[in-house]
Amino acid sequence: MKLVDLRSDTVTRPTPGMREAIARAEVGDDVFGDDPTVRALEERVAGLLGKEAALFVPSGTMANQVAIRLHTAPGDEVVMEAGAHPFNYEAGAAALVSGVQIRPVPGRRGVMDPADVAACFRPADPHFAPVTLVCAEDTANRGGGTVHPLATLDALAEVAREGGAATHLDGARLLNAAVASGIPAARRARAWDTVSLCLSKGLGAPVGSLLAGPAELIARGRRVRKALGGGMRQAGILAAAGLYALDHHVGRLADDHRRARRLAEGLAEAGYAVQAPETNMVYVAVPDAPRLQAEAGARGVRLVAVGPDRVRLVTHLDVDDAGIERAIAVLAELRR
Ligand SMILES: Cc1ncc(COP(=O)(O)O)c(C=O)c1O
Repeated sequence: MKLVDLRSDTVTRPTPGMREAIARAEVGDDVFGDDPTVRALEERVAGLLGKEAALFVPSGTMANQVAIRLHTAPGDEVVMEAGAHPFNYEAGAAALVSGVQIRPVPGRRGVMDPADVAACFRPADPHFAPVTLVCAEDTANRGGGTVHPLATLDALAEVAREGGAATHLDGARLLNAAVASGIPAARRARAWDTVSLCLSKGLGAPVGSLLAGPAELIARGRRVRKALGGGMRQAGILAAAGLYALDHHVGRLADDHRRARRLAEGLAEAGYAVQAPETNMVYVAVPDAPRLQAEAGARGVRLVAVGPDRVRLVTHLDVDDAGIERAIAVLAELRR
């Protein structure tokens, strides 16, 4: 039975071409700043995101947490959407690493209303934790792989700036948003102080994320990365995979988006309550999500229950058209 793994876009395995690039990579000790391939990746991603500098880190979680540490002091408040990754899935790291509290703001499909963010800023008063950072996520994962309207991205950053807060854009899937919207990543991130990007999701690299921003801030971020245990030595073998992904796997994200639309259409025809996808994620409301996960998994279609009554299916490099049709057929069968 051929498995169709739709749990996440993180499940991809490096392609033969990527493995060749890894094998050929020039390396050095990156903690000493000696790895030419890491340096090339950092420069390339800084340019791609329109920022002065970038820092290669092992994960999207570390990129977000270095950003939070750089922008805040212990006791501060960080505003983000209620479904945001650092609030839900980063193991409490913002409290552990930076000693901050998170103020979750309910959004629509993962997108906050700038007026709701403006309302988080309160007068200076000894009772209140000061809001020193506002985060947004583009695409918004739990929101449905949602692409922020550009005007909203700009307005959120503006409201934060007016309140005296810094801004961080979790761009784990920013290139999905760029491809889906036709708006370059650098433009999408323009109003934001720092922005992260993951190589290990839709781009298909095995490991790695980058945090981009002003050179002075990113230089300080190197120390935070080291303190968190993220200083890597001959990391050029990983950076080479990232460079390869940027050369070969960006345009094809449109295929993932097309397949997500086909999957959503097939599931809706089978009677499922499907949230219309904007990028590579399909969320479906079901009566018993853990049960559907188990039953589909037993038939070779892997998906994840993201709550008692909601499942997520994600398209990626390792799922082709036949895999999508097979997933639709299996899930249609389970609905009968
Ligand atoms: C929006 C978003 N941000 C950050 C992360 C964290 O990435 P990592 O799993 O590499 O720590 C994820 C992971 O799925 C994510 O979806």
